[in-house]
Amino acid sequence: MFESLPGFREFYPSECSRRNHLFQVWRRTAVSFGFQEYDAPLLEPLELYVEKSGAEIVDQLFNFRDKGGREVAMRPELTPSLARMAGARANSLKRPVKWYCIGENFRYEKPQKGRLRSHYQLNCDILGEAGPGADAELIALLVAVLRALGLGADDVVVRLSDRTLWMHYLAAMGLDAASAGGVLGVIDKMERQGRDETIRKLEPWLGAEASDFLIRVEALARIRDLGALRSQLSGHGGNSEAGVLLEGRLAEWEVLLASLEALGVADMVRLDLGVVRGLAYYTGFVFEVFERGEGETRGRAVAGGGRYDHLVEKLGYPALPAVGFGLGDVVLSDLLDEKGLLPAYVSMPDVYVVAGPGDARAAALRGATALREAGYRVEYALRDTGFGRQFRFAGGSGARFAVIFGEEEVRLGAAKIRDMQSGAEEVVPVGRMLEVLGERLG
Ligand code: HAM
Repeated sequence: MFESLPGFREFYPSECSRRNHLFQVWRRTAVSFGFQEYDAPLLEPLELYVEKSGAEIVDQLFNFRDKGGREVAMRPELTPSLARMAGARANSLKRPVKWYCIGENFRYEKPQKGRLRSHYQLNCDILGEAGPGADAELIALLVAVLRALGLGADDVVVRLSDRTLWMHYLAAMGLDAASAGGVLGVIDKMERQGRDETIRKLEPWLGAEASDFLIRVEALARIRDLGALRSQLSGHGGNSEAGVLLEGRLAEWEVLLASLEALGVADMVRLDLGVVRGLAYYTGFVFEVFERGEGETRGRAVAGGGRYDHLVEKLGYPALPAVGFGLGDVVLSDLLDEKGLLPAYVSMPDVYVVAGPGDARAAALRGATALREAGYRVEYALRDTGFGRQFRFAGGSGARFAVIFGEEEVRLGAAKIRDMQSGAEEVVPVGRMLEVLGERLG
């Protein structure tokens, strides 16, 4: 006997139907926002992820050497592949590029609630538009997907933050870009580790000031509106270049928040600088979706995304600003399940065809084919067997109608339609079978 690998799921039909439900809603909503579907390889050169995605993801790669001696990796995420694809056609693509993909990703993580070694993501990205209009469009799309699945402002929240703002803030404190990146890496983990540990991890950059700095970071992370953010930051960095950039950044925030309001999604979004995102390529606005808990948020992120304006260029292509998100199926399915928002699995034919022996069975199979071609879900017994068993199968299948091709009916060029609920029967010429069933099934 064999078991599947840890962290990998088997999708029996009921799980597959739930997954298909998610995929249908994802696809329908992305298309309604004018996004076009693309796809990328599951196996990629290892190099695509080293440095580009960041140390955390590289540690989690499923990688190996292929038979041609190439170092390869199962894709842990879609963004680097997308950046390569868009970059390769950067000069000919109509901008803005609005693309979506639904696909599987592989990360060698410790399997636990919300984290597996294979998961599916909806990825939506806009490339070629540097202004906050693109960020607003993506957040609106993400909210529309969540709403289409039945989740509202009481259930989930989009935590919206800004790496650019953080970088300007840290620069105004005198940190260079590399140190600021390191500090942001610690802030990213702040919520999941103790204060003492956070201070210890900040010390390499901030020394004795680490503890005071953390107090200021915590105060910033508690801010929920732009007015409060403005007053908290006013004067930070003074007239230094970073101080001026910080002011300018707040103007971008104003544009983004106004767009989110006008797009009707502001109730699902909150300003929250506690999010900074772990992946190495993020540059500007970043966001994560969480389940709302008692007062605060709960569990693992449902979705995450943000701006990555330099990734395409870093891969060696012309510069192309970009922003996008990945919405995973694992945390999302758990959440929908808990809230009773996943549709029940139903699999029943419209019609069960019951066949008499010999020639009658051949006529029944022809009838089943005609019904299928007309778009009905049709089943019949795969083995010639008595009427009694076939009627039991028909009853067990949940079909609304049985269509019976007995020897007598076939001799008359007819079929008998039985309503499985009322038991009412009607013999109709085979030529009228589709018409009569069409009327009954509506
Ligand atoms: P990410 O935050 O690494 O971002 O993943 C996005 C979402 O995928 C997470 O919020 C989570 O729901 C799901 N996810 C990630 N890893 C796992 C796992 N091991 N098990 C279950 N679910 C998981 C990215 O991947 C970025 N590439 C998203 C993006 C697109 N940014 C710009 N465009």
